[in-house]
Amino acid sequence: MGMESKYIWMDGKLVEFEKATVHFLTPALHYGLGAFEGIRCYGTSRGPAVFRLPEHLERLIDSMHILGVREMPYTVEQLREAVHQTILANEFKQCYIRPLIYMANGPLGLNLDVSHPSVGIAVWEWGAYLGEEAIEKGVSMMISSFTRHHPNVTMTKAKITGNYPNSVMAKTLALRAGFDEAIMLDPTGLVAECSGENLFVVRNGKIYTSPRTTILEGITRDAVITLAGDLGYPVIEEPISRDQLYIADEIFLTGTAAECVAVREIDYRVIGSGKMGPVTRKIQKLFFETARGDGKRSDEWLDYVKC
Ligand SMILES: Cc1ncc(COP(=O)(O)O)c(C=O)c1O
Repeated sequence: MGMESKYIWMDGKLVEFEKATVHFLTPALHYGLGAFEGIRCYGTSRGPAVFRLPEHLERLIDSMHILGVREMPYTVEQLREAVHQTILANEFKQCYIRPLIYMANGPLGLNLDVSHPSVGIAVWEWGAYLGEEAIEKGVSMMISSFTRHHPNVTMTKAKITGNYPNSVMAKTLALRAGFDEAIMLDPTGLVAECSGENLFVVRNGKIYTSPRTTILEGITRDAVITLAGDLGYPVIEEPISRDQLYIADEIFLTGTAAECVAVREIDYRVIGSGKMGPVTRKIQKLFFETARGDGKRSDEWLDYVKC
């Protein structure tokens, strides 16, 4: 399955991969009561380095807080040490990191206050989420008929596991229809984000992205806004309509899994030149340099794992 490792960290212990299992009656499994993160550890000349680890772990805890869980078993610093320990134990030079806090140890039911959170951290070696070819050539997308959550339905600032069937349905529909990814509109019909990425539009030399209201506040989005500023492109956060996408000069996606990828087509309409545009190329290059330890901001954003 490509996700193998020697150990998975579970509630303070490194457990052999095959033994890292949960009981059928775990409440999280039935009601989506958990929160997760997707984090990348990059290979650098100074060894493995995790990109913006504290920010990811803070968002993990915020997600449980948004869900309404009042008991947090570990602090950000304890989780940070656990992530380092898991990478070291598995001897990966670069990997994807998947922490999950999930409600376990309690009776099944809809009351969060009767079960207790457990924590697991898995790591595995993982290449480009949308494919190596997509990094250079970009992806084709469709506007999904599935709407992004209204924030009073399930809140989009949280990576709550129970939020994700919305993304899963949009992504699966896009793949079955022959596209690579889905763009999701918010309940008012404006562009929100993708199934697992944030979206940026370039037009007449300016970069735009959707406001935070109905999106996950992506950590890569935040990094790219800063890097674009460093390159002399301030990013404007303002509502974006579907037709603004069709007439964009360039569009690109950002996310931990997808990294920074151009969009070449949406709904059978060619975007710009149909190739990665010059602004996207500059930002993608600087993003990878930074994540791999060669950028001016690398020290600010990389958490080096001591081997
Ligand atoms: C719905 C959604 N939007 C955007 C993102 C991108 O966020 P990040 O850059 O923090 O990975 C993700 C991935 O976590 C996501 O699941």
